[in-house]
Amino acid sequence: MRRSVMLSCGSYLPEKFLTNNDLAKIVDTTDEWITQRTGIRKRHVAGEGEKTSDMATRAAEKALKAAGLTGADIDAIFLATTTPDQTFPATAVTVQDNIGMGDRGFAFDIQAVCSGFIYALSTADNFIKSGQINRALVIGAEHFTRLLDWDDRTTCVLFGDGAGAVILEAAEGKGDKTDRGILTTHLHSEGAKRDLLYVDGGPSSTRTVGHVRMNGKEVFRNAVTRMSEAIVEAMQASGVTPEEVDWLVPHQANRRIIDATAEKLNLPANKVVVTVEEHGNTSAASIPLALSVAVEDGRIRRGDLILMEAMGGGLTWGAALARW
Ligand code: UT7
Repeated sequence: MRRSVMLSCGSYLPEKFLTNNDLAKIVDTTDEWITQRTGIRKRHVAGEGEKTSDMATRAAEKALKAAGLTGADIDAIFLATTTPDQTFPATAVTVQDNIGMGDRGFAFDIQAVCSGFIYALSTADNFIKSGQINRALVIGAEHFTRLLDWDDRTTCVLFGDGAGAVILEAAEGKGDKTDRGILTTHLHSEGAKRDLLYVDGGPSSTRTVGHVRMNGKEVFRNAVTRMSEAIVEAMQASGVTPEEVDWLVPHQANRRIIDATAEKLNLPANKVVVTVEEHGNTSAASIPLALSVAVEDGRIRRGDLILMEAMGGGLTWGAALARW
């Protein structure tokens, strides 16, 4: 059976960051409130002139270097972002140019907000499994702080900027759960709940970029339920038990959501990769950023079974199970 093996990963965080105390100088909030309600202590913020494509390119270059490849070895780029450089062209084509792919292959953006990386991974995996491509660069990159209303304390304390990338390559597997690579992916959406988390602007409505608006409590409730469902779905589809999962690498929106999801599935805290304290919510970049941190510090090793899950605006949600 044709599988998409994860060759390497890479990440990028802007140099500048804001602590909770920095935000307390901008809006009516406290370090105590943010830490207790979200677990977040700091978030990175892209520099003036630093674009989503720049961050995506840095992450992609690191992943390419780790795999011993160059842009000339990549067949396609799947870039998940809600914060493209421009309304068009896709940010992915700028990355294609930046990494020296020339006119080789194709590149496009995927918009599923915080679930974007799972959507991009699933799309790339299906292109590989169908035999259409052999190697893919899957990126999650966000300049999310550009979408924030810095007068709205209920949202501006939550998000940060960054990028993460993974390289997938076709390989033959046995077709069971012992295979390396992506074992299964599951995507969902429920457009009827799109008003729970959205941006109040866009080319076809207001002709403006707009700001993030969120019903935090409802999103929180949906997040725990939907991500738990997707995890169970992924485990059942591949005949994997919670005990067999080595690492949960969840979307990093809120420490309490991560803890509640892990608890619901009886996954011990020492099997969960948590970066929300240091990164905040980086939307589509959060999973590949967390993955990169745990691969680089040696926690995730070759052969480990990784469960990834996310939920975001749309609502969109999904899960992916992969053997690193
Ligand atoms: O990645 C996409 C998915 N996004 C998420 O998963 C986010 C999901 N939601 C959440 O993480 C949480 O709902 C929040 C962290 C956004 C909010 O936490 P909460 O425990 O649900 O708080 P709340 O919205 O119920 O607000 C509680 C109180 C309110 O005051 P009153 O009405 O009780 O007087 C808020 O006005 O906290 C107040 N509040 C704040 N206080 C200080 C809201 N934001 C702040 C703030 N600082 N930054």
